[in-house]
Amino acid sequence: MCGIMGYAGAGNAAAIVYNGLLRLEYRGYDSAGIAVMYDGKIKIAKKRGRVKELSAFCGELAGNVGIGHTRWATHGRPSDKNAHPHSSGKITLVHNGIIENYPKLKEELIASGGKFASETDSEVAAKLVDKNYDGDILEALIKSCKMLEGSYALMVMCEGFDGIAVAKYKSPVIIGLGDGGNFCASDEPALAGLCPGICVLEDGDFALITADEVKIFDSDGKRVERAVLENLAEEKSLDLCGYPHYMLKEINESPAAVRNTASAFSSCGKACEILSGAKRIILTGCGTAYHAALMGKRYIENFSSVHARADFAGELRYASRTAEEGDVLVAVTQSGETADTVEAARLYGSFGAKVLAVTNSPHSAITRIADGVVYADSGAEICVAATKSYSAQLAALYLCACVAAGGDVKAREEELFACSDMLRSFIERTDVRRLAERCSKSSAVYFLGRDLDYCAALEGSLKLKEVSYVFSAGYPAGELKHGTLALVDGKVACVFSITDPALAEKSASAVEQVLSRGGAAAVLTDIDGVKEEFGGRAEIISLPACGKYLAPLFSAAVMQLLAYRTAVILGRDPDKPRNLAKSVTVE
Ligand code: M6R
Repeated sequence: MCGIMGYAGAGNAAAIVYNGLLRLEYRGYDSAGIAVMYDGKIKIAKKRGRVKELSAFCGELAGNVGIGHTRWATHGRPSDKNAHPHSSGKITLVHNGIIENYPKLKEELIASGGKFASETDSEVAAKLVDKNYDGDILEALIKSCKMLEGSYALMVMCEGFDGIAVAKYKSPVIIGLGDGGNFCASDEPALAGLCPGICVLEDGDFALITADEVKIFDSDGKRVERAVLENLAEEKSLDLCGYPHYMLKEINESPAAVRNTASAFSSCGKACEILSGAKRIILTGCGTAYHAALMGKRYIENFSSVHARADFAGELRYASRTAEEGDVLVAVTQSGETADTVEAARLYGSFGAKVLAVTNSPHSAITRIADGVVYADSGAEICVAATKSYSAQLAALYLCACVAAGGDVKAREEELFACSDMLRSFIERTDVRRLAERCSKSSAVYFLGRDLDYCAALEGSLKLKEVSYVFSAGYPAGELKHGTLALVDGKVACVFSITDPALAEKSASAVEQVLSRGGAAAVLTDIDGVKEEFGGRAEIISLPACGKYLAPLFSAAVMQLLAYRTAVILGRDPDKPRNLAKSVTVE
């Protein structure tokens, strides 16, 4: 969270950084700022609100070196004064991360005469670098970082130095190697179309970026080389292609995500080797990725005799303190940078477990920790709400489960290809507007299902609440009568997913419980008997028959469309829900 971007070159720094920030806005969007160096002096524009608030000021910021920030507030509410960049003396910087020991450092800086203009932890870093600056910005930054605890990606400008000094620890920094200029950014999408090559900084790295060169240093200030990789960011992923929102565009890209994930699986040899030897598989992730992990656990346990478990990444460290021979930790993460997931993977790696990453971000932190990577190949996802990345994760975990079971992977890949085609036409013809109208007027929406349908329900609920702000919760259908039923009345809507014929009768009785209390029910099903039973009494959304394991791909599409339509009816911005950010790099 928080997107940061820097540029040094022959071009107009303010315009380049501004465009980069627009592309990074999914990392945070409560305030933004840009600083540019002109004639040895630094000028700043910063404002509460979205990046576009800065457009009026860009013309006033002439210069060829600049840094910028789009914020997701951690310390200090969104305001002009808490917006980055922060300055002290000759130093101006932007920060992504959390400086955990900032209260102590702030106290010391105040005691030695420091005056603070903001409530942020980041301003402490600016003051510290200024205090340690004695003519050499790299030296000052290295010395200051030794005093910081927490996580940081820092981009620092210093009057007198025609470039940017960068520090990285537990928050991502990508360096872009351009022709006529160099870049630094939190994430690759900011660099789409700007440079062919990138370097990914490692924890403890520093860099000096000027128009002509990039120098990278380790924590002792010794020059190091980092591999030059291909810049995979594509400008087309930033294009709305005629859709009104990224969320709708990306839901429509789910079929391609499923297909591409199945195609890419043959290149995941190392990951397959690890899975084949697994005795116990612990799946983990946060938010949507955790819901995919829950589904993955069911795939593994249904297909094989391997014991599987799924835990929230933020809770995993409290669940168990050891690993056994044959343990494999599967970390599911779209961004590959989620702090809780990365830390859980690190921890299990340190216990001796093999770590496998399921991600669509090939240059992310998780891929450097993992012993093997499975690409959930959905391409860059811009909308804060995960949609196509979830579909890709389900496809990837379906194949992983097949490998763990020693099954016929080729046959499963073929199933996914066929499923991808069915999903495309299903999304095209599915209209959930009537149900969305109902949800937009409901006091609460409950998502219910059993077994795999329960995992789908949890994700449906998360999607609806995060983009529409309508209260929702996901429950096992059997749990309804143990408490939640007390909340069901004429103002409540319940969305059931019923795709397992063996469980249909039991789930149907939960639908009856809702209807007989005056609640509205919608049923997502591919089972004819269920359609007949509730036709005319509940809103029926017919799923294509594809078997219970792949049905969640279809129910996910319905629930994503439902969340999207409800958000639009209520006038919310589905791409940038309030208070959220896409890549959560703080624990
Ligand atoms: O990048 P990750 O997959 O690790 O992100 C995990 C969650 O933060 C993410 O899935 C979040 O819940 C989304 N906003 C859900 O739509």
